[in-house]
Amino acid sequence: MQVLVIGSGYVGLVAAACFAEAGHRILGVDVDTAKVATLSRGESPIFEPGLDDLLRKHLASGALRFTTDLREGIATADAAFICVGTPQSEDGSADMKYVLAVAGQIGQAMALRPMEAKPLIVVDKSTVPVGTAAQVHAEIAAHTDRAFEVVSNPEFLREGSAIKDFLEPDRVVVGCRTDHAETVMKGLYQPFLDRSGGKWFRMDPPSAELTKYAANAMLALRISFINEIANLAESVGADVDHVKVAIGADHRIGPAFLNPGPGFGGSCFPKDLQALLKVGREHGQPMMTLATTVEANRHQKQVLLRKVKAHFGVKAGVPGPLKGRRFALWGLAFKADTDDIRESMALELIDGLVTMGAEVVVHDFAAMDAVKAKIGTKVRYAETPLAACEGADALLIATEWSQYRHADLDAVAKALKAPRMFDGRNLFRPEAMEAKGWIYQSLGRRS
Ligand code: NAD
Ligand code: UGA
Repeated sequence: MQVLVIGSGYVGLVAAACFAEAGHRILGVDVDTAKVATLSRGESPIFEPGLDDLLRKHLASGALRFTTDLREGIATADAAFICVGTPQSEDGSADMKYVLAVAGQIGQAMALRPMEAKPLIVVDKSTVPVGTAAQVHAEIAAHTDRAFEVVSNPEFLREGSAIKDFLEPDRVVVGCRTDHAETVMKGLYQPFLDRSGGKWFRMDPPSAELTKYAANAMLALRISFINEIANLAESVGADVDHVKVAIGADHRIGPAFLNPGPGFGGSCFPKDLQALLKVGREHGQPMMTLATTVEANRHQKQVLLRKVKAHFGVKAGVPGPLKGRRFALWGLAFKADTDDIRESMALELIDGLVTMGAEVVVHDFAAMDAVKAKIGTKVRYAETPLAACEGADALLIATEWSQYRHADLDAVAKALKAPRMFDGRNLFRPEAMEAKGWIYQSLGRRS
């Protein structure tokens, strides 16, 4: 099939590369000319394991090409995927301006399609509020009399494992009204479902749109819940590692996504929760568990800072004890295996420490450039995890890169002023650390 993928960010690029891998001819589109030039050279502008190889392979085979002009591919396309951003507006709602702009561009370009062409399947893959398929339909219809159908096909990939998630999905959700649309969508996704044994769900577009928000909200809620259990475990002398394994063994609960951490971040959970809350308000349905999840996460994002302040004896409004101290910070991305720092808890931690007069030396395996571009000289940047620790009063861990888990802790202890660690990702066991002489604090375990 011939497919336009409009928007070449985390979702669009991965979709384009994976559909090419499945044997389709893909035209990736983006308004960012620098990005299109980079991509056309076979370089990925984002860090995503496995993406570079797929891009290079399919640029070379001719299955994949990038352009700034969607009109290039519209005449013969079977489907056009809208994968542009839906960032948070000031009032919390999803900002639809990029999606609707693309819909308008598709509508105008439709004149290039022959009258007798099969209906173009226009796919909303961006995360969009209920009713967007209808809005996109209206926007396109305002410009054309050519046949098309708008389909909702939310994306469930995670950054850091995006290629695997796309090629081996748990499920594919398609909100459509006709069998033609379902056939086109199945043609694209069936190879992936065959590989993963994942499920196919056809439903109406509003249900598909709501499914996406409900899934993200449920996952966010789960993380906030285990974070609260971890916080309580510390106070009552329990160990969250035991608790999470035991509750996860109940098949109704399941073991995944129960790792306590320094609050969820990223480009999706925070904005999607706000968008769903806004939809709830608009429809007179208070989403009370979600409102609490947002609050709980705000509190959790300060968890490491609270521990550092308590340890060094910072009293309310008296920043003295942290002044002049140096902290090594491992991990800047909002999670491992990505360069994405959107809503990363590390940035809040840096803010808090620097405001109290501390110096922060940071390290990350992929997100250093993004942080440099955002906060410049507010922190110092270390080439290696060990170099970040030289002469520091403590090591803080914000991101669970597996390389940190396997670091030479004896060398790290020597580099630090004292072997002191605040581990926001529970990379190590407290008893093992204490046996090696570390002052070790983590989440939800004895310290
Ligand atoms: P992104 O910001 O990484 O990429 C969006 C891209 O769209 C940018 O490259 C931008 O230049 C381009 N763009 C904007 N307007 C355009 C236009 N008129 N024509 C062509 N290109 C245009 O965003 P993302 O992280 O890929 O997210 C895209 C959507 O997918 C969002 O709705 C998001 O919520 C959703 N989503 C994201 C993820 C994720 O892990 N990032 C996962 C599932 C769903
Ligand atoms: C999340 C969802 O998992 C995807 O299914 C969805 O497609 C995507 O949002 C989206 O809509 O954009 P992502 O944000 O890439 O994916 O990453 P996750 O692995 O879900 O992690 C989100 C946050 O939760 C991170 O800050 C992570 O550190 C945190 N987390 C995750 C925990 O603290 N504990 C866990 O057990 C799992």
